[in-house]
Amino acid sequence: TPTQVTAGRPREQWTGQVGFILAAIGSAVGLGNIWRFPGVAYENGGGAFLIPYLVALLTAGIPILFLDYALGHRFRGAAPTAFRRVGRAVGRWTESLGWFQVAIAFVIGLYYTAVIAWALSYFVFSFDLRWGDDPAGFLTGEYLRVGEPGISFEFVPNVLIPLAIVWIAAIVVLAAGVAKGLQRVNVIFLPLLVVAFLILVVRALFLDGAAEGLNALFTPDWAALGDPNVWIAAYSQIFFSLSIAFGIMITYASYRRRRANLTAPGLVVAFANSSFEILAGIGVFATLGFFAFQQGIAVADLEGLTGVGLSFITFPAIVSQMPGGPLFGCLFFGSLALAGFTSLISVLQVVSAAIQEKFRLSPRAAAIGVGVVSAVLSVLLFSTTTGLLALDVTDQWANNIGIVASAVIMTILVIWVLRRGPELRYHLNAVSTFKVGRLWVALVGVLAPVVLGYMLISRIVALIV
Ligand code: PHE
Repeated sequence: TPTQVTAGRPREQWTGQVGFILAAIGSAVGLGNIWRFPGVAYENGGGAFLIPYLVALLTAGIPILFLDYALGHRFRGAAPTAFRRVGRAVGRWTESLGWFQVAIAFVIGLYYTAVIAWALSYFVFSFDLRWGDDPAGFLTGEYLRVGEPGISFEFVPNVLIPLAIVWIAAIVVLAAGVAKGLQRVNVIFLPLLVVAFLILVVRALFLDGAAEGLNALFTPDWAALGDPNVWIAAYSQIFFSLSIAFGIMITYASYRRRRANLTAPGLVVAFANSSFEILAGIGVFATLGFFAFQQGIAVADLEGLTGVGLSFITFPAIVSQMPGGPLFGCLFFGSLALAGFTSLISVLQVVSAAIQEKFRLSPRAAAIGVGVVSAVLSVLLFSTTTGLLALDVTDQWANNIGIVASAVIMTILVIWVLRRGPELRYHLNAVSTFKVGRLWVALVGVLAPVVLGYMLISRIVALIV
């Protein structure tokens, strides 16, 4: 049976179920909840989007989350170790799927840090509304100093300093280990995030125009349900948002003690994540409603409703016009940074744990090694004038192609090639209070590969054409 010991050391552990749940929620609740979900929901049917979203959560999100948990917990390893062990019968090649996930996590770590660094800068800029009255020009011209892509390659100290701070913090946390580092940070940051964000949402609800914003977000466009792209958007939001098929949940579940309830905490994590997403939708759209109201236009005429545009152009513009703007800005950028950081450490742990197991290093040595290499690369890519371009490219590939491919391969490999479905189902049910039936194997083995396969092919086609 798979060993409890890695490189002669007992495996690290969460101190208990609550620590694990908080860390898993910390990973799931990230930038995607705040800057991605609201705009995606709005653009894909508004209130009607909640239907494909829930369907995606129940038919693929939660089932694959359980698969990740089962693999990590049953085979007690980070992604490469877990995939090697599950594939024992067919040779060692299955380990490579784990390394593919590690590679995706590594790439995400590089740019996630950059966005957290920008959020920290903008937290400080909120004090005196440093972006002035042209936040777009400020972002690209003064803050990031975006040059001609590929031509100019210069360090931008504005970004270099916060980026270095984020990397140092991340390395310190990783080096402190699972219980003393990752768990502790989540136990402190997650409640802080919830409080800060709730204050922001309540404030936003009292702004003029908030109701218009909420109407824009929640008014259902039922016709959207007939559009396959809306369904694709729902499945991809769920994937990114739950941090599944990245190796994260495999790694995190491997630190649970032997006899552990797996499914019930999974449900808590999934519903907590979706609740935060909807809360973010309310906060962001109430604020956008105010912005539209100020300009005397409809919410539908606003631009920059997701991602970098929403956070670093639209929000600064709004903060400048709002009574009490600086405080609101601090709450928003502080929330982004907190949500981002608790997700960041989860992706970095995927890489660090994999390296640790492969080369039989101590957790600390692996954490420092991985941290330093990533930090150098991240600084080269993102604190230079190519930063914004690099962000777009890495984000596209890692999210739109990488994790979808990883999920398709993972489900087909485990359920069809290795036929481990029944065994993993048995493992999930052994101690868990919420039992999964055969339907779980069917969802993971049939529905998920079909939907995700369709998604993957349509994206590759869209890239080529
Ligand atoms: N789940 C995170 C979010 O919603 C995204 C994420 C994915 C973070 C993978 C880390 C790794 O933002």
